Amino acid sequence: MTALTVALGDRSYPVYFEHAAESALVARVVKTARHGRALVVSDERVARLHGERLVEALRAAGLQAVLLQFAEGEASKTLATVARLADEAIRFGVDRTTPVVALGGGLTGDVAGLLAALLLRGVPLIQVPTTTLSQVDSSVGGKTGVNHPLGKNLIGAFHQPAWVQVDTAYLDSLPLRDRRAGLAEAVKHAALASPALLAALTALPADLPPRALGPLIQAAVAIKAQVVAADEREAGQRQILNLGHTLGHALESASHEHTAGEAPLRHGEAVSLGLAWALEESVAHTGLPPGDAEQVRSALIQLGLPVDWRPRVTAAVIDRLASDKKIRGEYVHLILLAGLGRPLIVPVTLQDLRARLLRAIDGRTR
Ligand SMILES: NC(=O)c1ccc[n+]([C@@H]2O[C@H](COP(=O)([O-])OP(=O)(O)OC[C@H]3O[C@@H](n4cnc5c(N)ncnc54)[C@H](O)[C@@H]3O)[C@@H](O)[C@H]2O)c1
Ligand SMILES: [Zn+2]
Repeated sequence: MTALTVALGDRSYPVYFEHAAESALVARVVKTARHGRALVVSDERVARLHGERLVEALRAAGLQAVLLQFAEGEASKTLATVARLADEAIRFGVDRTTPVVALGGGLTGDVAGLLAALLLRGVPLIQVPTTTLSQVDSSVGGKTGVNHPLGKNLIGAFHQPAWVQVDTAYLDSLPLRDRRAGLAEAVKHAALASPALLAALTALPADLPPRALGPLIQAAVAIKAQVVAADEREAGQRQILNLGHTLGHALESASHEHTAGEAPLRHGEAVSLGLAWALEESVAHTGLPPGDAEQVRSALIQLGLPVDWRPRVTAAVIDRLASDKKIRGEYVHLILLAGLGRPLIVPVTLQDLRARLLRAIDGRTR
């Protein structure tokens, strides 16, 4: 086992890196659950694959544990789901020491995290991420939340976990498409802070074996932990973690509404497309050397991620961008790069952002 600390004063917490360590997980949950109760939250797929076994193990260790489930997929990421889970939790019986164990991907972490923030005004949250996305990114940093019809993650809270256990053995059951998607966030962290991580990601074998991913996941988390420690509530520098997300979120939301028979984009795939756009904008406007942009782009391609964003920027995507951003005010803080490891926060008006994208669509037809 190795560990690192997210340094947030009296809310500091450890992230444990393990492989196939369910007994360590059980021992840690037992220690956190001071009054002998624990809630495990998973989507139905993860519940079947890993949740039922974990709850059995917690019961065998003497806890009163219950598994709360919701249907998998972004459509479940709503306040209604959180309300139903809260109802079940309260009926089961919770006190201030009852931990919520978020066992699953980023979606479960966001939903269970908000549940933990709201129950009794805050109970301990334990993040046990089971996708590459949640292992490299979403389980650390304390952002929780659900979607609104007008945009992603518009309803939420900051609620830092008590601790996080990243166990790469969970990735054995994760389909390759999801394994790949999450690594877009690792490429993002590497582009923001570590050319060495970028090179290591580019050199991974195509089937992304979980054990080989371990050290890279840890390196990506270390970058996120540092950014979060410096700016927990995203007053400034933490915004750099939104690299690739301005267009990415719009593409992701639009793909949930407008795909005819096609599977919607995974969050990480949308981020990969958004990154590819941000790289082009950075070369054009903020002096990113084309060779640096190419290194990031090749890492994405090497990992089997989509980079061809142009044909996907439809009128619906641009509308989506506008409705999402209007809510936050006139300015959008676009994240661009001046070089590898040199992010910039560039405030642009919504109008300017639309113009940039419309120019891109124009470029497509020329
Ligand atoms: N809070 C944050 O800081 C933050 C950061 C990035 C992304 N996010 C959010 O995370 C979500 C995306 O996360 P995700 O890609 O992990 O999606 P997800 O949680 O929906 O998981 C993807 C799919 O994989 C399945 N799955 C999960 N673990 C598995 C395993 N070990 N074996 C087999 N199947 C498994 C799930 O059932 C689901 O069908 C988005 O909602 C995004 O907004 C949050
Ligand atoms: Zn993301």
